[in-house]
Amino acid sequence: MNKFTVSTKRPYDILIGQDILKGSGKYIRERIDPCKVCLVTDSKVNGLYSQVLTTSLIEHGFQTCKVVFPEGEHSKTMNTYSNILEALADEGMSRSDLIVALGGGVVGDLSGFAASSYMRGIRYVQIPTTYLATVDSSVGGKTGINLLNGKNLAGAFWQPSLVISDYKTFDTLEDDELLNGVAEAVKSGMVAENTLIDKVLRRDYAYVIERCVSIKKSIVEADERDTGMRQLLNFGHTIGHCIEKISSFSVSHGHAVAKGMVAESKAAFKMGLTENDVSGYLRDTLEGCGFDLSIPYDPDEMYYYAHNDKKINGDSITIVVPEAIGKCRLQKIALSELHRYIELGL
Ligand code: NAD
Ligand code: GLY
Repeated sequence: MNKFTVSTKRPYDILIGQDILKGSGKYIRERIDPCKVCLVTDSKVNGLYSQVLTTSLIEHGFQTCKVVFPEGEHSKTMNTYSNILEALADEGMSRSDLIVALGGGVVGDLSGFAASSYMRGIRYVQIPTTYLATVDSSVGGKTGINLLNGKNLAGAFWQPSLVISDYKTFDTLEDDELLNGVAEAVKSGMVAENTLIDKVLRRDYAYVIERCVSIKKSIVEADERDTGMRQLLNFGHTIGHCIEKISSFSVSHGHAVAKGMVAESKAAFKMGLTENDVSGYLRDTLEGCGFDLSIPYDPDEMYYYAHNDKKINGDSITIVVPEAIGKCRLQKIALSELHRYIELGL
């Protein structure tokens, strides 16, 4: 098992290993005194992994209760968030108690947001069970829910107290779900480390997880609240979020980011913002992994959703421009150019 420590305002450890879920109670107990633990998970992960986790927690002196919501992005709503908060109150959870998020990015984002706001903030532990959540969403403390107008429009920065990443849980992931993680790992490679992409293609999970976590740790330590370089991690997300929303989430996050990275690379090149057109490389690489990169949507509709993006500041939006494989930079463009940017990407 390997350990990384994220030195944010409230530092925390990330434990990475194979088949370490059953030790969760011990790892949590080493950091947190016995208390009440509310396990938050989704309907699918509940049947797979909540029993082993609950047993381990009880063995180490924790009292447990559980909230389960239907699996999938459609659950990442105000309604589920509110149900979790009410369940925490029904269970008599206090400020010294703990939430444990067991699942993918949807569980992590919802549980983290509930933790950030229940009684003005309680501790939570992330136990990611998807490739995507392991390489990206469980690290860095971005929590939130979708609003009717767009992705992640309500949320908070709230760092976990511990992350336990057991990549043995990938054994039960469907291929399409593994691809969601591939997209975010390729994104990390595009932003910070060109040699990483080859390892992603070889499905070298242990290596890829550790590099992605290490890259994200450095970026989050430098910019915890996403006001500067952390925005590089949004590569592919401006167009990706529009695709998720327009498709009513039938295109999942990683698949949308894969399409978005190709489109944003193409658009940046066509707008003269970079000398290198990396879109061909990305297209070949991602199609080789099995991604469908088509974007059969109306640019006007895409533009409508892009207008609700969190990266908009007044009359400009910050986009990510790939300069080479492994090197991206941020660029502000006027909102008046956003429609053209989207159109050139399609
Ligand atoms: P998800 O949580 O919906 O999980 C995908 C599916 O896999 C679900 O059906 C789930 O039940 C199932 N699943 C989870 N673990 C499993 C396992 N081990 N075996 C079998 N099935 C399993 O989606 P995701 O792809 O993990 O995360 C996507 C979400 O993460 C999006 O909402 C996205 O916005 C968010 N996200 C957040 C951040 C962040 O920094 N907070 C970063 C990237 C993405
Ligand atoms: N997934 C982007 C971030 O955490 O900043």
